[in-house]
Amino acid sequence: MCPSPAIFAACFLAVGILVLSEFAWSKEVSPHLSIPSAGWINYTTMTGFFLQDDPTTNASTFDYTTTNLGLINRTYPTDSPRSKRKLTQWEKFEDYVTYLNRHSARNVEYKVLYMGRHGEGYHNVAEAFYGTPAWDCYWSELDGNGTVSWDDARITPLGVTQAEVAHNFWVNSLKNAGIPAPQSYYTSPLSRCLETAKLTFSGLELPHKQPFIPIVKELLREALGVHTCDCRSSKSYIHDTYPSYLFEPGFAENDPLWLPNVRESNSQQVVRLTKLLDDVFTHDDRTWISFTSHSGSIGAILKAIGHRPFSLRTGAVTPVFVKAEWMKGNKPTSSIEPGTAPPTCTSNPTPSPTP
Ligand SMILES: *[C@@H]1O[C@H](CO)[C@@H](O)[C@H](O)[C@H]1NC(C)=O
Ligand SMILES: *[C@@H]1O[C@H](CO)[C@@H](O)[C@H](O)[C@H]1NC(C)=O
Ligand SMILES: *[C@@H]1O[C@H](CO)[C@@H](O)[C@H](O)[C@H]1NC(C)=O
Ligand SMILES: *[C@@H]1O[C@H](CO)[C@@H](O)[C@H](O)[C@H]1NC(C)=O
Repeated sequence: MCPSPAIFAACFLAVGILVLSEFAWSKEVSPHLSIPSAGWINYTTMTGFFLQDDPTTNASTFDYTTTNLGLINRTYPTDSPRSKRKLTQWEKFEDYVTYLNRHSARNVEYKVLYMGRHGEGYHNVAEAFYGTPAWDCYWSELDGNGTVSWDDARITPLGVTQAEVAHNFWVNSLKNAGIPAPQSYYTSPLSRCLETAKLTFSGLELPHKQPFIPIVKELLREALGVHTCDCRSSKSYIHDTYPSYLFEPGFAENDPLWLPNVRESNSQQVVRLTKLLDDVFTHDDRTWISFTSHSGSIGAILKAIGHRPFSLRTGAVTPVFVKAEWMKGNKPTSSIEPGTAPPTCTSNPTPSPTP
């Protein structure tokens, strides 16, 4: 399924082709602003709307379910004192976002991204069990330990419960808080996200024009390489397991990005997730977008949009209010670290001598 070192070279070629073809993709949605040949998109976080971007909010104790997803109770310039009924905070915020998109310059667009991390997977349990050093230098490269397997890791019973918490959050927020339902759903192709998205969004009372039909996006996945938990299953397997899901154009049968001996660096991951944002902002003109993804890729998106770091527990959801401005000229350069070989173990990673 995932490539062995022997076909490393073939993989390398495939990566180049995938990157080149990125902007050649055409989507079923209406055509939208495209990136000028010498241009780039400047993403910034609109602050003061969600608690998560406030430096005084502690990510490790924050609970999105008890805080209305962190939506701050405030007024907006678009609030109308004479509305026929009392609007919820989300309805007032939605009016404001709609107003901004209607009145902004042609090269500016606003979106709200609902970013969910997958529920706990078997690889999360194994990393905690062995400790991160032993996980990174040894166990992460194996498919499992004989008792548990973690290649393209599945979610644990706790992970299922966490996704059910997210489901209940959406049930309640759609019914009582007037939260705008996602208009588009995107998911990482890794099993833990495919399943989390299904458990979270299936069976909700959604607007008829916005059914839960996620699009599987290659670039939304976790850091590439070395760890078998981050190597995806085949397109056929994903299709057979989640027949209602759609694939982005060009989605390959076998994982074209994972390499057994090079782990993607953090700065490479930011470049990759910026490409994902460029793709979504260029091809999808909808405003309220759901991503089901991973801690590393959500962290990379936060970095790409100038949001402060905000780590999510497994199964947690965080919103971001993003301004995108299409710019002429060249993007300011930043340094990109190369990928790295797996670290060498400094002590025996196996808890007891292997027989
Ligand atoms: C990107 O946009 C922000 C907010 O509009 C602005 O402050 C910043 O200068 C822009 N960056 C560049 C490089 O133009
Ligand atoms: C955030 O909360 C954790 C857990 O209660 C605590 O250990 C940490 O010191 C807090 N961080 C800050 C900056 O207050
Ligand atoms: C906003 O106010 C409501 C009650 O009116 C409260 O339940 C909620 O926690 C508040 N949200 C924030 C982020 O302060
Ligand atoms: C395999 O790892 C799991 C934790 O992921 C642990 O509970 C189990 O005991 C391990 N099996 C062996 C044979 O060490």
